[in-house]
Amino acid sequence: MKSFASYLRVIAITSIVFIAAEYLIDSGEKPAFIEYPMVSVFILLFAIILIGIEIMVGSMNSLADAIMTEDQKKALEVKRAKARKNAWYLKLEKRLTKAQPIEAEGEIILDHNYDGIRELDNSLPPWWVYGFYISIVFAVIYLAKYHIFDGNTQAEEYEQAMAKAKIEIEEYKRTAKDLIDANTVELLTEASDLNAGKSIFQTNCVACHMADGGGGIGPNLTDEYWILGGGIKNVFRTISEGGRDGKGMVAWKQSLKPSEVAQVASYVLSLEGTTPANPKAPEGEIWTPEEE
Ligand code: HEC
Repeated sequence: MKSFASYLRVIAITSIVFIAAEYLIDSGEKPAFIEYPMVSVFILLFAIILIGIEIMVGSMNSLADAIMTEDQKKALEVKRAKARKNAWYLKLEKRLTKAQPIEAEGEIILDHNYDGIRELDNSLPPWWVYGFYISIVFAVIYLAKYHIFDGNTQAEEYEQAMAKAKIEIEEYKRTAKDLIDANTVELLTEASDLNAGKSIFQTNCVACHMADGGGGIGPNLTDEYWILGGGIKNVFRTISEGGRDGKGMVAWKQSLKPSEVAQVASYVLSLEGTTPANPKAPEGEIWTPEEE
């Protein structure tokens, strides 16, 4: 029986430590004890030490049992019984309920006899009384906050939280421009972005596409015909991943950041409909947005 309690203690305490470690250590998707092997080692060591303590205490108890006289044992048992009776949780319970012990119920029993049912005149349990006072104080504060001083309703709090989140998202987008890819990119229309795109184009692309996009080694970028698909997503993909093998258009993601690819792609798309000096004949197919 005693060793059963030991097993339970070891398992319970180790589980608590394990759960606490999982909860406190930020290990991403994987559980902490897999992500960081040191955590497993620590928990294992912890369990071993616990088992060691249990064994030590257990053998000390049996040793004491072996060398104590009967009188000493009795005295110890009395002491323990007393300690059990004075346990803090029993005292707390007494204080919170103020219940009359069953032996003293005679003092508070009421005279009346309801068809054989008698009633005790217990005092109100303090836990209940204090809870009642607290709820009164809460009600007063609540009333004042929401009905006199016009505190925010839940709907208003929701709206404020959403507005705040929106600002944070904008902020995040501004600092995380380079998180875009071909699936999330959107056509940029700000003059600053188009100007940036233009200068990227002039530095990297004019050799093959001409300064006005009319085409040379590379195809005409001003018409509505696209070999690899039009629209911001396809153009973004072509520029960052390159053209078909052996055609001469490299993958620009090596040298341009995603935000720069988005800028130059938007600039290229802004050229559509302009008339270059020496337009190369259309290649590919007319691209219609529905295809995307
Ligand atoms: C070395 C020459 C060369 C350079 C430099 C070059 N391109 Fe190209 N580009 C090509 C060729 C060749 C193709 C056709 C690829 C194919 O057919 O697969 C092409 C295709 C494209 C297309 C797709 C056209 C379509 O019809 O689908 C876009 C958009 C494009 N280039 C943009 C750019 C941009 C932007 C740059 C500068 C960052 C650039 N290119 C630099 C040669 C070049």
